[in-house]
Amino acid sequence: MKARPWAVAATTAAIAIGAAIGGTVWRRRHRDPLSYTQRFRVQIPRPLITRGHLFEMLDPRPGERILEVGPGYGYYSLSVADRLGPKGKLDILDIQPRMLRHTLRSARRLRTRNLVAACGSVEALPYRDEVFDGAFLVTVLGEVNDPAAAMRELFRVIRPGGRLVVGETFADPDWVSPQSLHRLATAAGFRFESRTGPRLGYFSKFIRPPLGEMGLRYVKSAGKTV
Ligand SMILES: C[S@@+](CC[C@H](N)C(=O)[O-])C[C@H]1O[C@@H](n2cnc3c(N)ncnc32)[C@H](O)[C@@H]1O
Repeated sequence: MKARPWAVAATTAAIAIGAAIGGTVWRRRHRDPLSYTQRFRVQIPRPLITRGHLFEMLDPRPGERILEVGPGYGYYSLSVADRLGPKGKLDILDIQPRMLRHTLRSARRLRTRNLVAACGSVEALPYRDEVFDGAFLVTVLGEVNDPAAAMRELFRVIRPGGRLVVGETFADPDWVSPQSLHRLATAAGFRFESRTGPRLGYFSKFIRPPLGEMGLRYVKSAGKTV
């Protein structure tokens, strides 16, 4: 019996859609870093979370030290580093060395010198307390095993008054809703500032409250302000 072409096409389409849905459901249940070989998935257009939207929310200024967690292949990294100028510094931290090597290669090609890479997890950041003016992460939090620990670590390394910007898109199977993000960030001590974009593709900005706002005050100890 000869197979009808429309039946073959419909079966193929059904299998493809089933595989795509199955893959997405599986990824939503398993928190794994996006592998280097799958990096094409973050190369698709992202109209709701553009570099321009990130700049609007993060407002990186010359001379600042900013942390980017999970740069992947560096979609945002190089333009943020450029904004920080020669006196500023962008620290990038990723759990996968191959992602860091890719971004560092691009930085070398563009003669970007203010970008420093570290391999590790956001759940245990290898930085001292309060050293960053701000931090950002885009489509990363959903891949992290312990996002509450990640938020506590980000709070620790950002200076009082510094900002945290988190970007998410529904095109990513590990999408984190604005509400879940809000709960995680405020539980760690951040104050919500603003959001740009709809739920399906947004940047949210949080502030680590200045000490005065947290009911604390600076005191002098042995001649030093602590
Ligand atoms: C979906 S990619 C996003 C890449 C980039 N931010 C972008 O928007 O193009 C997620 C990145 O987060 C990194 N990542 C996942 N879990 C991490 C963790 N616990 N600590 C640091 N980086 C992590 C992955 O290795 C990957 O580079």
